Amino acid sequence: MSKFNFIIETEKLTRCFGAVVAVNQVDLRVPLGSVYGFLGPNGAGKTTTIRMLLGLISPHYGKIHLFGRPFTRQNWQIFAQVGALVEAPSLYPNLTGRENLEVSRRLFNAPRKNIDEVLESVNLTRDANRLVKGYSQGMRQRLGIALALLNKPVLLILDEPTNGLDPAGIQEMREMIRGLPSQQGVTVFLSSHLLGEVEQVASHIGIIHQGKMIFQGSLKELQAQRNPILHLGCDQPDHAEQLLLDAGWRVRRNGKPGLLVEVNGNSDASLINKQLMTQNIKVFQLNIDQPDLEDIFLQFTQTEN
Ligand SMILES: Nc1ncnc2c1ncn2[C@@H]1O[C@H](COP(=O)(O)OP(=O)(O)OP(=O)(O)O)[C@@H](O)[C@H]1O
Ligand SMILES: [Mg+2]
Repeated sequence: MSKFNFIIETEKLTRCFGAVVAVNQVDLRVPLGSVYGFLGPNGAGKTTTIRMLLGLISPHYGKIHLFGRPFTRQNWQIFAQVGALVEAPSLYPNLTGRENLEVSRRLFNAPRKNIDEVLESVNLTRDANRLVKGYSQGMRQRLGIALALLNKPVLLILDEPTNGLDPAGIQEMREMIRGLPSQQGVTVFLSSHLLGEVEQVASHIGIIHQGKMIFQGSLKELQAQRNPILHLGCDQPDHAEQLLLDAGWRVRRNGKPGLLVEVNGNSDASLINKQLMTQNIKVFQLNIDQPDLEDIFLQFTQTEN
């Protein structure tokens, strides 16, 4: 049907601010029909990347293809097919949710029926006739997404849509985003600094760290590649760290007395326990957890070196 596999494709996308390379040779590959989670800690370069994708700032180097077409000043019309929510949405507090949508609908000259459709998609049908000043943060955010969907975009770009929401708001946002590709036929590109969050909605993930992409692939690929972390408490952490490093384990400290060791599973935990016991190190804590984002950064950045 379509002539392209990737709805967003960048090549060595780069942007500096003074001496800071905010985005450093990033090659994004966002499959058509995916929910793509763009993951990275504060200052990683997520918003800068998004602003370049939306034509709000220019790259210093590299190329962007949207819908399989190179993105130039001349073909800015492609943005008619892109909906975005980059900062908190600007809403009229003294109008209802529906009236806010109606203002934009007239501006875009979009069909009337789109309003009910987008309200349904963001789960605001019931609250559509309430004044926005009485909306919760999560409802405002969802109304912002409804506004972005009003023109039936093919691509929806959201910068940290769950920022500032409470757990219930996050949950609602998550369910809504998951349904968008099938309901609205839209590909979703969203940024977040929370791994657990993105894992629950995304089919594909890109991880950016200090401006560089350190992982990109399907959620399954990410889950297959990352290792569990053993949290280890013992009476001689410095000695234990050195022993384990010498034995070839990947160990790190997190400022606390315990050690974090990358392992493959339970058998590694008992092996480590045995190695330390033979050196008269007393182990009092051994538990294996799924890695958090920080662990994954370490894993991928260490692998690179
Ligand atoms: N307008 C600007 N002027 C100067 N430096 C900037 C500007 N915008 C971004 N930066 C710098 O570029 C880097 C990337 O910032 P960016 O806002 O893209 O990160 P982010 O991943 O969106 O972070 P956050 O999670 O905090 O939103 C940071 O070091 C930031 O300080
Ligand atoms: Mg940001």
